[in-house]
Amino acid sequence: MSQTLIPTPPTPSPSSPSSSSLFSNLTIPHSSLHSKLRISQPTRLRPIRSQQPRLLSSRNSGPTDNPRWSLSGMTALVTGGTRGIGHAIVEELAGLGATVHTCCRNSSELDVCLREWDNLGFGVTGSVCDVSVRVQREELMGTVSSVFDGKLNILVSKLLDFLSLYTHKHACERINNVGTNIRKPMVDFTADEFSTLMSTNFESVFHISQLAYQPLKASGFGSIVFTSSVTGFVSLKSMSVHGATKGAINQLTKSLACEWAKDNIRSNAVAPWYIRTSMVEQVLSNKEYLEEVYSRTPLRRLGEPKEVSSLVAFLCLPASSYITGQIICVDGGMSVNGFYPRHD
Ligand SMILES: NC(=O)c1ccc[n+]([C@@H]2O[C@H](COP(=O)([O-])OP(=O)(O)OC[C@H]3O[C@@H](n4cnc5c(N)ncnc54)[C@H](OP(=O)(O)O)[C@@H]3O)[C@@H](O)[C@H]2O)c1
Repeated sequence: MSQTLIPTPPTPSPSSPSSSSLFSNLTIPHSSLHSKLRISQPTRLRPIRSQQPRLLSSRNSGPTDNPRWSLSGMTALVTGGTRGIGHAIVEELAGLGATVHTCCRNSSELDVCLREWDNLGFGVTGSVCDVSVRVQREELMGTVSSVFDGKLNILVSKLLDFLSLYTHKHACERINNVGTNIRKPMVDFTADEFSTLMSTNFESVFHISQLAYQPLKASGFGSIVFTSSVTGFVSLKSMSVHGATKGAINQLTKSLACEWAKDNIRSNAVAPWYIRTSMVEQVLSNKEYLEEVYSRTPLRRLGEPKEVSSLVAFLCLPASSYITGQIICVDGGMSVNGFYPRHD
C-alpha cells in the first residue's frame, strides 16, 4: 500500500533559511524591479541583523522556543502592509520570526514603514505595487519568488476595498473617476459600477492566489489567510454588492482548502467588523453613526488592528495545522447579535 508523506512544518534550525542567507542571495531578475523593490536597508543588501527578531517592547513578545508557536524560517507575503490591519499583520508575523514581504501603492509610506521595521529588527522587504492592476500583481509575485527563492509559506491577501480607494488621500483622481457613491441600494448600481466593484474586490485576490500557488506548494507547508468582512455573513445597509464580493472570497476560502490540501496548503479567512483604521475613520467620525455601531456590537467598542493580526498569525502557525477552510469573524460579537437592547 502506498503511503502519502505529508511534509511537516519547518522548525527553527540552523539549516532554516535565515534572513541573512535570503538577502545575500537576493537577485533582481529585471532592471525594472529595481525601482519597485524596497528593502529595510535602503542603500545595500546587507543581511538583516538577526534571524530571531529582538524582543524590544511589550508589543512583540517574540517567537517562543516551541516550534508550534513560531514562524521562524518561514516566508510571508502580506499585501497592503503599510497601514491598518495589514501593518499589524506584518509586525505580528515578523515578531513571530517570519521573513515578510509587503506591498502598497505609496512609496514614501512604504519607505517609512521599512525603516521602522528595520529599527525593530524585523526582516521585512517591500514593493510598490497596485494590486488592482493585473500586470503589477504578476511583477509582485515575480519579486516575491526571487526574494524568497521560489518558496512562500504564508500568503495574507487582503480584499481590495472600494472604501480604501475613497478615503486614501493619494487616490483623489481615482475617487473622481469612479464616483463616491458606491454604497447604494442594489437596484441603483450601474453595470459598470457592478463590474468594477466585483473585479476590484474579488479578482485581485483570486489572481494573487493563482500566482502564489506554485511557491506555496514548493514551501511544503503553505497557508493562505484572506481578509474578508462580516459583510460576507450578514446584511449591511447599501452594501449588497460589496457583501457579495466578500461572500465570494468566503467560498473561495473553502474551495481552496479542499483543492490545495493535497499540496499541504491550508486556506482560511478572517472577517472583521469595524476595526480602527484609516479606511473607516471618515465614516466613524460621525458620532451618531458611531453610536449605532456600538449599539450593534455586544462588546460595545471598535476592534483594534492587533485584534485581527493575532488571529491571522495563529492561522499561519504550525499550532493551527489542522484548521483549514474556516472563516472566523473578529467582530466583538456583532454577527451573532440577535436582539440585546443596549439599555437592558
Ligand atoms: N477597517 C475595518 O473596519 C474593516 C472591516 C472589515 C474588513 N476590513 C478589511 O480589512 C482589509 C484592510 O483594511 P484596513 O482597514 O486595514 O485598510 P487601510 O487602513 O485603508 O489600509 C489599507 C492598506 O492597503 C494598501 N492598499 C490599498 N489599496 C491597495 C492597492 N490597490 N494595492 C496595494 N496596496 C493597497 C494601503 O496602502 P496604499 O494606500 O499606499 O496602497 C494600506 O497599506 C480590507 O480588505 C478591508 O476590506 C476592514
